[in-house]
Amino acid sequence: MITVTAKTSQQYSGDMCVYFVRQLDNKKTMPVSQDKEVQEIIKRAYDVGDFFARAGETVLHYPGPGTGAKPAKSARRILVVGLGKDDLDREVFRLAGGTASATALKKKAYEFMAVLPDELDFPAVEMAQGLAEGLILGAYQFVKYKTKFEPDEKPGEIKNIMLSTRHLSAVRKGVKTGSTEAFAGCRARDMANEPGNYWTPAQFAERGRELAAEYGFKCKVYGLAELKKMGMGGIIGVNQGSGKPPTMVVLEYRTGKKVPTLLLVGKGLTFDSGGISLKPGAGMQDMKYDMCGGAAVIAAMQAIGEISPARLDVVAIVPATENLPGHDALKPGDIITQYNGKTVEVVNTDAEGRLILADALSWGVKKYKPDAVVDLATLTGAVIVGLGHHRTGLMSNNDALAEKIMAAGEKSAEPLWRLPLGKEYAKQLESKVADLKNVGTQGAGTITAGAFLEEFVGETPWAHLDIAGTAWDFTEKSYVPKGPSGVGVRTIIELIRAWK
Ligand code: BES
Ligand code: ZN
Ligand code: ZN
Repeated sequence: MITVTAKTSQQYSGDMCVYFVRQLDNKKTMPVSQDKEVQEIIKRAYDVGDFFARAGETVLHYPGPGTGAKPAKSARRILVVGLGKDDLDREVFRLAGGTASATALKKKAYEFMAVLPDELDFPAVEMAQGLAEGLILGAYQFVKYKTKFEPDEKPGEIKNIMLSTRHLSAVRKGVKTGSTEAFAGCRARDMANEPGNYWTPAQFAERGRELAAEYGFKCKVYGLAELKKMGMGGIIGVNQGSGKPPTMVVLEYRTGKKVPTLLLVGKGLTFDSGGISLKPGAGMQDMKYDMCGGAAVIAAMQAIGEISPARLDVVAIVPATENLPGHDALKPGDIITQYNGKTVEVVNTDAEGRLILADALSWGVKKYKPDAVVDLATLTGAVIVGLGHHRTGLMSNNDALAEKIMAAGEKSAEPLWRLPLGKEYAKQLESKVADLKNVGTQGAGTITAGAFLEEFVGETPWAHLDIAGTAWDFTEKSYVPKGPSGVGVRTIIELIRAWK
């Protein structure tokens, strides 16, 4: 969708041409553009007090005779986007790219050129990566189930974005990196946006097989009979109330060399009604998003297929089922046996994510002996109480791994906040009748959920990302829409890129 060109805006006559300019200072000083034509537009907007190039500020101009822009070869619209005055980083360009795409969609400018501010003192690769991420993520929309539109309201798609620059090779490199991450993020959003009656455990299996065919991964899908035979008491138990069989999808990316293995596990709960411990009706429809951890892991594998990391093998596991109150559903008080033999008293059937993850984690750790495990799950409402919708909750038994993930989250503007673990929290999970109960005593709900998972990873360095607050309703930005955010995808990719 993005092409890089040495052509200048004077040689472009498409739907829109986008320029980016810096705010000069806190005072209301007129922003400066290298481009004379743009400078004239800025001056007009500035003179009426509309534009200081603050981050996210825009001017939309329609060039033509007498309006100051060259009419002959000019694009039909000129958009100037402010970059603000804060230190430049990838996020500044992500936001600016998002603003450009959002404006383009609104104006139905489906083909546009963005002129890179080559003159800024900032690495062209990073600038291009940030812009590509923002442009692609900001162009995301999900309208496949809408059949009726007001006349003239039918949304189109952004078809082609040209990036004009003098630094062709650096920008091409950045665009490739940014596009790969952003497309993966969009695919995670797609899976999440699908309704629960369409995106079922079988869909995870199908997507896994598609990716395997495309990128040469090894793919194995475990169905109901196999999961039973393997002793996956958590997945089977949670699935009992559902009319659809569970799946567990395993994808393996192998370098063929002797390198460390990273294991990714994602919660693929395709609908969480709570089961017999039924959730309240209001807002229950959002529980179709309870598979966002699984979606993030699968989408990240798509990017891994594109990137082919050289120093790391990656295995992805997505345990997938619905949690419904069918006639054979788990009941509060039931005791199940997880894959590793630990018994769990299910005191609340709505704490189901940890039950399916416990099986996948202990099975994955035993089978693959990974050097590190990262799980992503919309695990607790409590993480929203603690961190709101702005940060993912991070828990880990390993400081080095936790720091790597924090750094990857920072780079991708998917910030995390680490919460503690420890024996006090583990103690909250003691059961009178089994090895553990699935819900801890009152308090620290996010941490006790993490402490539950910790029982299933042994000594393996492990990190748990509770994305219940960020997988949807994430801090709204130009490139983060109201629905599912695709959070976690870019963090995983950054983590893998930075792996030493
Ligand atoms: N999928 C939910 C967690 C959730 C809640 C995600 C709200 C996003 C928004 C999870 O399975 C769940 O229901 N957890 C319970 C645990 C409780 C019973 C200990 C919760 O958070 O209420
Ligand atoms: Zn639940
Ligand atoms: Zn759930």
